[in-house]
Amino acid sequence: MKVTVFGIGYVGLVQAAVLAEVGHEVVCVDVNAERVENLKQGDIPIYEPGLTPLVQSNYEAGRLQFTTDAAFGVKHGKVQFIAVGTPPDEDGSADLQYVLAVAKTVATYMESAKIIVDKSTVPVGTADKVAACVAEVLAERGVDVGFDVVSNPEFLKEGAAVADCQRPDRIVIGTDNPAVENTMRELYAPFNRNHEKLIVMDVRSAELTKYAANCMLATKISFMNEISNLAEKLGADIEKVRQGIGSDPRIGYHFIYPGCGYGGSCFPKDVQALVRTAEKVGYTPELLKSVEAVNSRQKEKLFTHVEAYFKGDLQGKRIALWGLSFKPNTDDMRDASSRVLMEKLWAAGASVQAYDPEAMNETQRIYGTRPDLSLMGTKESALNGADALVVCTEWNAFKAPDFELIKEALSHPVIFDGRNLYDPVLLEEQGIAYYGIGRGRSV
Ligand code: NAD
Ligand code: UGA
Repeated sequence: MKVTVFGIGYVGLVQAAVLAEVGHEVVCVDVNAERVENLKQGDIPIYEPGLTPLVQSNYEAGRLQFTTDAAFGVKHGKVQFIAVGTPPDEDGSADLQYVLAVAKTVATYMESAKIIVDKSTVPVGTADKVAACVAEVLAERGVDVGFDVVSNPEFLKEGAAVADCQRPDRIVIGTDNPAVENTMRELYAPFNRNHEKLIVMDVRSAELTKYAANCMLATKISFMNEISNLAEKLGADIEKVRQGIGSDPRIGYHFIYPGCGYGGSCFPKDVQALVRTAEKVGYTPELLKSVEAVNSRQKEKLFTHVEAYFKGDLQGKRIALWGLSFKPNTDDMRDASSRVLMEKLWAAGASVQAYDPEAMNETQRIYGTRPDLSLMGTKESALNGADALVVCTEWNAFKAPDFELIKEALSHPVIFDGRNLYDPVLLEEQGIAYYGIGRGRSV
């Protein structure tokens, strides 16, 4: 099938490559000319396991094209995906300007019937706005061609995006048009082989499903973080509690890992956006507001521990930091907990020696060169001359470090572990002070 994808970011690029791999002819359109040129040269703008060979092989096979030529893109695809960003605007609502700009573009160039698919995460009612925008432009042009707007939210996780798209656990399709449903079934047939994964529903329910999924996951995390803070005060170990509750299949082990707060481009913005959506229809979403508040506080947790350990005096202290990305296997630092930590350390007069397996360039891009930030080439060199070590991201490379070396390198042998990677008893035996999240003791 001929498909066009507007927006070549995490979602658009991965979705496009995965669709091309199964034989669809995919044209990707982006307004970022540099990104398009780089992709044509085989330079992939994001780090995502398995993505580079997938993009390169499908580009070389001619099934995947990159362009800034919107007219060409609109002409090409029977299905037009909108996969552009929906960042928060000033009040936390999803900013739809990029989505509506694509709707306008499609309407400006379409000469035949199109299925327009909202792949971006968009508030309930957005499909109606997209339809109104397209209808208005078509009327202005005096062109009478049919179109449908479908909601098809994306559930991929960064760091596992290719695998998630190739083997989705569900494909939600919001439409009430049986012919459109059939086209979407045909498009996704290669991913729907072993058991039925398509869940077809009305458009508004599909739009709300996406927010409900992310908000449920964020709620689980904030709940565990709340209990971990209690565990700290009560002398209990959250890791034992986690296993104790996760073994109940009604609760399950997934997404109940306490830590230094959830980050990334989605949970923080999507929880906020659903709060605003609720308030706009006169409903106060108490639970969601607390999920957000607990997370904001949790992101300050590591700093609070470090500050308390050094008795409020961080002036001139050097802190080694392992992990900058918001989670492992990505270079994405959007809303990462490491940023809150670094910014608070700097404000208190400390400096940071940081290492991350993939996010060093992104850190440099965000913060530039500054005297209180040293980007180190290895996790070991980040320790040299540092006063303490903080771990923010659970990269595999940090899971079994040489504790003797850590002890020798740090002027204060202490680890603040934002992801509960280490065994507190083992570290105490080795003579390293250890502060995890909810591990039975406060600093
Ligand atoms: P992104 O910021 O990585 O990429 C967006 C791309 O759209 C950019 O390359 C930008 O140049 C391009 N763009 C902007 N305006 C355009 C226009 N008018 N025409 C063509 N291209 C245009 O965004 P992302 O992380 O891929 O997220 C996209 C959407 O998918 C968001 O709504 C997000 O919430 C949702 N989502 C993201 C993830 C994720 O893991 N990143 C997962 C599921 C859903
Ligand atoms: C999340 C969802 O998992 C995807 O299903 C969704 O498609 C995506 O948002 C989106 O809408 O963009 P992502 O943000 O890539 O995916 O990453 P997650 O693995 O969900 O992690 C998000 C944050 O939660 C990370 O900071 C992670 O460290 C934290 N987390 C996760 C915890 O603190 N504890 C956990 O148990 C799980």
